[in-house]
Amino acid sequence: MIEKQFQRLSDEVGSCNRCGLHEHRSRAVFGTGNPYAELMVIGEGPGEEEDKQGLPFVGKSGQLLDKILGAAGFSREENVFIANIVKCRPPENRDPTPDERTTCLPFLLLQIELIQPSIIILLGGTALKGLIDPDGKITQVRGKWMKWHQFHVMPTYHPSALLRNPDLKKDVWADMKLVMQKYRELVDPEHQSPHI
Ligand code: URA
Repeated sequence: MIEKQFQRLSDEVGSCNRCGLHEHRSRAVFGTGNPYAELMVIGEGPGEEEDKQGLPFVGKSGQLLDKILGAAGFSREENVFIANIVKCRPPENRDPTPDERTTCLPFLLLQIELIQPSIIILLGGTALKGLIDPDGKITQVRGKWMKWHQFHVMPTYHPSALLRNPDLKKDVWADMKLVMQKYRELVDPEHQSPHI
């Protein structure tokens, strides 16, 4: 049931030309993971490797994201769905503009509506601005639960920020501990992580 709606939406994303980003894309990046996941992770937009493969977070920051998720006992195949604010790569990996974010947002909102996750992790300022608060500052709100509609939302740093500044890793790990706690509370009291 969800799978069919997902396929239809994914086809629509694949042929979208609502903004200029479609002109430069190799492939649109719909998202990946378990459509029944209780945990959804939202990034910014595809980079070079993602644009080539049509999958989110498959480059360097994706490898780090997989490590972070794995350390918290989650995996994209099993219990996570990963998507982005914009589905097409901004040229030169620039930040998507507010207009591009707004134009692409209906796709993400439909994904959230179909998946109905209990918890959403926002990775970085663009995800925060694109979904919840155009004036939001990730440095101010990270690590603090936000309630957006019925969803529990945890903003944290984007993995690419950790690649630039490894000191931020401890903050993201603290935020992931809160996510594990909430996941145990809302979804699976038996949830195990290799670390805690
Ligand atoms: N960064 C993102 O925000 N999303 C991706 O899919 C890849 C890198």
